[in-house]
Amino acid sequence: MIEVMNLSKIFRQKDGSPFYAVKNLSFSANSGEIVGLLGVNGAGKTTTMRMLSTVLKSSKGTAIIEGYDINKDSQKVRSKMGFLSGDTGLYGRLTPRETIRYFGKLYDVENSIIENRMKKLIDLLDMNEFMDKRISLLSTGMKQKVSIARSIIHDPPVMIFDEPTSGLDILTARNIVSFIHQCKEEGKCVIFSTHIMREAERIADKIVMIHKGELLAEGTWTEMKEATGKQDLDDIFVNYVDSVTKKEGEIHNEF
Ligand SMILES: Nc1ncnc2c1ncn2[C@@H]1O[C@H](COP(=O)(O)OP(=O)(O)O)[C@@H](O)[C@H]1O
Ligand SMILES: [Mg+2]
Repeated sequence: MIEVMNLSKIFRQKDGSPFYAVKNLSFSANSGEIVGLLGVNGAGKTTTMRMLSTVLKSSKGTAIIEGYDINKDSQKVRSKMGFLSGDTGLYGRLTPRETIRYFGKLYDVENSIIENRMKKLIDLLDMNEFMDKRISLLSTGMKQKVSIARSIIHDPPVMIFDEPTSGLDILTARNIVSFIHQCKEEGKCVIFSTHIMREAERIADKIVMIHKGELLAEGTWTEMKEATGKQDLDDIFVNYVDSVTKKEGEIHNEF
């Protein structure tokens, strides 16, 4: 379970002025729930996930993950979570099997448990044919599967996946989506990010829309359809964007 509370990240711009990549963001994600973090490029999805995974320190606010505070108990948080980021580096000279074993050991998982979990992940992610090839020889989709497997070899209750299907072919993407559903079945809490509305609809139980670092809307698609009176996903998103833009305009007009 994840409770995000007024999370903010401020970057300094070249002229020294503050820039909010994430601003006052609050939302929650339960166990057994898939939450889709939805927003256009630059909305603040990656920054949010990097803070949740404790890779990046928050400027203000915090989040509680499985009872642990990301700012106070970062080590505990990391042990409860698997984080797939876009720039997860893999060692080209190792094989997937070696890589996954290596990360299992880093997480202090017993050897026999690593082997058992790896077997399960190989099946679920359909990795059998390339487990013993050098990673430098693998396709983008195969590498993505290795990254996913290595990030969750310690079987964490919380999984945070930053654009997990981005740039992948349809079969690989589908395989990863069904894997995410399987994780939900096992009662895990999953947050994934995407800028593709349809994907968010297909995978997520709940949508958290963000724009310019701020929360636009949180809820199910059904709730959002009712609230906006629109049926088309893109229209719903644009509707929420327009409504905050309009509000900003009103504030400016007051001056
Ligand atoms: N390290 C950084 N320094 C300065 N600005 C950053 C940094 N990382 C991200 N940003 C800015 O923060 C905003 C949000 O970026 P990001 O979280 O990557 O968005 P998304 O993942 O939704 O595309 C963007 O305007 C981006 O340029
Ligand atoms: Mg991103």
